[in-house]
Amino acid sequence: MLIHRRGFIAGMAALVAVPRQAGAVAPITDPELARFIAGMPKAEYHVHLEGTLEADMKFALARRNGLKLPFADVAAMKASYDFHDLPSFLKIYYDGMKVLLKEQDFYDLAYAYLVKAASQNVIYAEMFFDPQEHLKRGVPMAAVIGGITRARRDAQAKLGIRSQLILCFVRDLSAESAMAALDAALPFKADLVGVGLDSDEKDNPPEKFRAHFAKARVNGLHVTAHCDVDQVDSLGHIRTVLLDLKADRIDHGGNIVQSPELVAIARQRSIYFTVCPTFSGTLRAGLKEPVDVVRAMLDAGLKVTISSDDPAYMGSEYLNDVLIRAVDRSNLTRDELTMIARNGFEAAWLPEADKSALIARLESYLRSAA
Ligand code: HPA
Ligand code: ZN
Repeated sequence: MLIHRRGFIAGMAALVAVPRQAGAVAPITDPELARFIAGMPKAEYHVHLEGTLEADMKFALARRNGLKLPFADVAAMKASYDFHDLPSFLKIYYDGMKVLLKEQDFYDLAYAYLVKAASQNVIYAEMFFDPQEHLKRGVPMAAVIGGITRARRDAQAKLGIRSQLILCFVRDLSAESAMAALDAALPFKADLVGVGLDSDEKDNPPEKFRAHFAKARVNGLHVTAHCDVDQVDSLGHIRTVLLDLKADRIDHGGNIVQSPELVAIARQRSIYFTVCPTFSGTLRAGLKEPVDVVRAMLDAGLKVTISSDDPAYMGSEYLNDVLIRAVDRSNLTRDELTMIARNGFEAAWLPEADKSALIARLESYLRSAA
């Protein structure tokens, strides 16, 4: 039985963009554009593996693990995905992942995402996972990282998709819990490429994790952090992530367009932003009119990449769907779209030669599609 464990204060509804649900958007109308996007080699940097846990897989894993779910069927479960802001989304997301218990469960989860991504011509992905939530249920770190790593290797061998793994600190749990997770993960650091920071931002500023990021860096890991759109003190959090934690990337980060000073710093440091328009496509906080995040960030000269975030909870729309909708919604030109795709490979936490090889595949596609 899934127990609702978290009691978030949903006080930010007015500030948070309402996520777009499947069915709430116009159908995709330009088949030529859809074909161009589908065929394009792509990278993805902001996808939470637990956010790719589809309802049918939840039922299969619950059956395998002897758990009873409080839903009659897949349709009833999906109907419960009724969130309106970050805390109400997180509650559903954390409840859903409780079916993940064994190494094989993590394998199946990661492999299923990689199959879908590869089928959409994603050739490289850096994927988040939230180990603190699994450790709390008594799942050993070896099972979590072991299952995902085995899936990554199999997917590369069988499907040709390359991937790496980013450990996220769950910012609304204690700093001690995050440090314990990092310590438990360090024996597996060869299987990780970086650390990130996700979950509920309210009262959980990035500096709470200063020591964790420092320790991760000493251990050769890259650093990124979520600065979700329209949170309390979004700009303060972006400032800390840029100037104090000196992150290599920022996940979401749209509110930066409200500060010319921070925009200039991000541009000067070539910071890449992993933007997820399905989750937070519109900026509202402190603005007279809502602002399209992708359009505003591009117009500010920032390095935008686009990702799917938690596709299983967002109408099962994976990267191609998200990109097609972004073109429609933000009026992207073909040049802007290809720049976003190129940014996608330039942002990779890979050796320069590997990055160049990925970019060469994109360039070859663009020549053939011209
Ligand atoms: N933001 C914060 N926490 C999350 C997200 C997100 O986009 N997805 C999963 N956990
Ligand atoms: Zn995210």
